[in-house]
Amino acid sequence: MKLRSIELAVPDPVAAAGFLTDIWGLAPAGERAGTHYLRGSGPDPYLVALEPSDSEWVRSTSFVCSEAELAAIRAAISRAGWPARTVRSDDPGGGHGLLVELPDGTILRFLAGAADVAPIDGFARPSRRVRPVRLTHVVFNATDAEMMADAVENVLAFRVSDRTRGMVFVRCNERHHSTAFARSGLTSLNHVAFEMDDLDAVMRGIGWMRDNGFTPAWGPGRHGPGDNVYAYFIAPFGPVIEYSTAVETLAPDHRVGGPDDWTWPEHRIDQWGVSDKDLAALRCAEERFRCRRDWLPEPLA
Ligand SMILES: [Fe+2]
Repeated sequence: MKLRSIELAVPDPVAAAGFLTDIWGLAPAGERAGTHYLRGSGPDPYLVALEPSDSEWVRSTSFVCSEAELAAIRAAISRAGWPARTVRSDDPGGGHGLLVELPDGTILRFLAGAADVAPIDGFARPSRRVRPVRLTHVVFNATDAEMMADAVENVLAFRVSDRTRGMVFVRCNERHHSTAFARSGLTSLNHVAFEMDDLDAVMRGIGWMRDNGFTPAWGPGRHGPGDNVYAYFIAPFGPVIEYSTAVETLAPDHRVGGPDDWTWPEHRIDQWGVSDKDLAALRCAEERFRCRRDWLPEPLA
């Protein structure tokens, strides 16, 4: 199973898509009924969908899986008494699957039979050389992060990889985390992280963002849990977005870390300690995108 895409609603998808292609480095992946799709260089048909709406909200976060994994999820949510909603995707790549509403209202979509596309090789403008490959994680704010982690472990067979004072990191494959739940006191989208080829690509991305007037809200730096390099920005259409690379691949005998495993010298919150964090601006952006559930179909009886 892997994380594939996030489906967002925004008041001006054309402007948001323009930023994500012209500056952030994604490539257009088509438009369907006013929804703009953006892809990376990897095989996923799209990473971000932007549909028009009066307000900004999150429709879903999508994972792709095998038919067997989908059947196991379906059986597990039935055992747990969670509502089951089937879905057939009209997005690029298609596929069929389940909409899963987590206990705090966060909506995940699991798709089997979704098609990949040919990767993009090289750059139309060699001077740019900034293109995310794929999504590497989507993090949610949670009013009860431990409860959410328990829910996805027990029902969706995700695994907790690490805990810090601020977050519970959760994986759906051998990569350290594909999601995390932040101990935030509210339920919303915390941030969306795009994987870059390597450290050089992250730094080129930061440079290109700076050329266009965007400075990092946090980064560059290297996290403790996951060991990944990061640079966080606040997108002009609202959400916190991240260039990331080199997330840790876990061995089968990985020991779950706890807050005491991730302590730093005073005033430090990452391995490098070279960047300040604009906490107030990030917090404001992290509160903007909530999951909406009024579009969900009726659950199966
Ligand atoms: Fe992140």
